[in-house]
Amino acid sequence: MELSTDQFSRLAQQIYMRLGLQFEDKKIYFLQKRVEKRMEALGYNDPSEYVFLLCYADPTGAEMQALANLITTNETYMFREYEQLEAFGNCCLPEVLSTKQTRGEQRLRIWSAGCSSGEEPYTLAMILQEVFPQSQYWDCEIVGTDIDENVLAQGARARYWWRSVRDVPSEYLDKYLIKDGDSYVVHPRTRAMVRFAHLNLHDRIAMRAMRNFDFIFCRNVLIYFDDRSRKAAVDHFYNALNRGGYVFLGHSESVGRISNAFRLKRMEQHLVYAKE
Ligand SMILES: C[S@@+](CC[C@H](N)C(=O)[O-])C[C@H]1O[C@@H](n2cnc3c(N)ncnc32)[C@H](O)[C@@H]1O
Repeated sequence: MELSTDQFSRLAQQIYMRLGLQFEDKKIYFLQKRVEKRMEALGYNDPSEYVFLLCYADPTGAEMQALANLITTNETYMFREYEQLEAFGNCCLPEVLSTKQTRGEQRLRIWSAGCSSGEEPYTLAMILQEVFPQSQYWDCEIVGTDIDENVLAQGARARYWWRSVRDVPSEYLDKYLIKDGDSYVVHPRTRAMVRFAHLNLHDRIAMRAMRNFDFIFCRNVLIYFDDRSRKAAVDHFYNALNRGGYVFLGHSESVGRISNAFRLKRMEQHLVYAKE
C-alpha cells in the first residue's frame, strides 16, 4: 500500500485539526505504516477508503482514536530531566506547600499532561512523598492524562521494566518500587496518589474542564505541536493553574517563547514559570 501525496496531506490535515499533532512531508512513510495497520484491521484494500473514513465518516472520533493510539511517540522513563525535578522538589514544592499551610489548606493537585505510560506522574508522587511525608494526611492528587489509551492502561497497571526505572535514584528505588521477578511494581501508597484519565490537549472543551492545579507538567509533548496549538495548550494551562502555581515544560520547550502570561523565576540555578 502506498499513500499518494494528496492522501497523505488530507490525513495529516485531519490529524492536525483534531489532535494538534503536526506531520511534515518527511513523515509519509511513518504514517503510511500506521494507516496500513488500521486498513488491515478494517479489511480495507484501498487507502482512499481509509481517507474517506477518517475525514468524513468518523462522527464519534473512534477511528481517529484508533489511529492516535498508533501514531503518538510515547518515549518516557522515571526521573527524566532530573535537574528540573530538583527545582520542583527543592524549591517550588516547598514554597507552594508553605503558602498552603499558612492559609490552612491541605489540598495539592498536580497534572501530568501527556503522561504516556505513567512514569512521570509516579515520579512526581515519589518526590512529593519524599519532600513532604505529611502528604499522606493531605488530599493530594496527581492526574496523569494522555490521548493514547494503550499507554494509559499501562500506567494504571503500574508495572515497569528496567528501562523505565533505570534513572531512579537508589533511595527511591528501594522505597517506592517493589521488585517482582524482572519487573518493578509501584508501591500501593504511591500508586493510590495517581489517577489516569483520557484527554486530548487539543480538545478545547475538555481542556476548559481542567481546573485548580498547583503544578502542571507537560514535558516532551508540545514538541509535536506547531506554534498555534502549542500556544492554545499553554493558555489553557494558565487557566488551569491556581495562583502561585507552576508550569514545567520540557528542556527544549520554553514557555516564554509561547506566552508572556507567566512570570519567569530563578529557583537555585533553574528557571521556572509561575502564575502570580
Ligand atoms: C514523549 S511522551 C512524553 C511523556 C512524559 N511527559 C515525559 O516527558 O517523559 C509524549 C506523550 O504525549 C502524548 N500526546 C501527544 N499528543 C497529545 C494530545 N493531543 N493530547 C494528549 N496527549 C498527547 C503522547 O500520546 C505521548 O504519550
